[in-house]
Amino acid sequence: MSGMRKAVIDHETIKYKRIPGMSRYWSSVVQNIIPYTPGEQPKLSNLIKLNTNENPYGPSPKVLEAVKAEAADTLRLYPDPNSDRVKAAVAAYYGLTPSQVFVGNGSDEVLAFVFQALLKHEKPLLFPDITYSFYPVYCRVYEMNYETVPVTGDLAIKLDDYLRPNGGIIFPNPNAPTGRSVTLSAIGELLEKNTESVVVIDEAYVDFGAESAVPLVDRYPNLLVVQTLSKARSLAGLRVGFAMGHPMLIEALDRVKNSFNSYPLDRFAIAGAAAALEDKAYFEKTRDRIIRTRESLVRKLRELGFEVLPSVANFIFVRHPERDAVDLARRLRERSIIVRHFPLPRIEQYLRITVGTDEQCEVLVSSLAEILGS
Ligand SMILES: Cc1ncc(COP(=O)(O)O)c(C=O)c1O
Repeated sequence: MSGMRKAVIDHETIKYKRIPGMSRYWSSVVQNIIPYTPGEQPKLSNLIKLNTNENPYGPSPKVLEAVKAEAADTLRLYPDPNSDRVKAAVAAYYGLTPSQVFVGNGSDEVLAFVFQALLKHEKPLLFPDITYSFYPVYCRVYEMNYETVPVTGDLAIKLDDYLRPNGGIIFPNPNAPTGRSVTLSAIGELLEKNTESVVVIDEAYVDFGAESAVPLVDRYPNLLVVQTLSKARSLAGLRVGFAMGHPMLIEALDRVKNSFNSYPLDRFAIAGAAAALEDKAYFEKTRDRIIRTRESLVRKLRELGFEVLPSVANFIFVRHPERDAVDLARRLRERSIIVRHFPLPRIEQYLRITVGTDEQCEVLVSSLAEILGS
């Protein structure tokens, strides 16, 4: 047994040696999935990291205090399986009842449950062709039917195009990676006409300028709004996301969650998330700062000749009419600036750039000016 283990694992490099035929032990689902590739999290310091839409400012000091207070003897106990404090804080923030709130380990986990609990039907799930690239991954994992709906020539979502037979509809608002939004009235019109399936609005970036659909939750029982604390509340490292909708939709999510992991949020996450939602002043101050930086960054990049899509997110989506996107990303990287490129049809000449601090954006703009001049 120990001899066999030695043959498989190279303890020097902690790298597994691949053995031909081992994948026969994998399930057919695993053999066929193409996993989501998250944006790079380099271990190097001194980078200007504008590739994964994190907040350039730290979380509220009250969050740090609340998290530190949890480093106590009580860690021997399981956390609250229902994260009631977080549900109460979300409900208070949005004027809902806790029974309209579901909480999970990042909105990626919430979305994973949503796909399984509410969007898997015989008819195809609809989502934009240019969107959050996790959606097709969930579909493959759960072996779901889906169809993509093309965004327009200028990469906008047109909700009229979703009025066709479907088992569910999902799109981010604002959309990722474009940063473009749809209006609340367009969402209302879609919900008036699409009553037989669940409509999920992924509002990961909504706080940076789009209209939230939460006010429609009481009117449309088939609407589910998903949000995260990773972006505007600067808590990507804590992993907290939530969904808001009719209690019967929330019950479906609870059924999946309680068949998978009873404790998706640990004690640190529960305390930190509640504190973040309660500190509205800090949230508004840092969010407004990011919006101001975005507007000035957009102006400066347009002056350099970039085409910049109108963004209401904490990132912008840009291309240069004469310069190759991959080459630009490589040259930025040589200058320790990381941005995100998606090698996908229709958007392979774009770069997605997270809005950093004013100082980071100044370095970005001067580096791009240098690169374009060379
Ligand atoms: C559109 C969209 N939805 C959901 C997420 C997931 O966020 P998290 O799992 O950090 O809550 C992201 C992350 O980048 C995103 O871009």
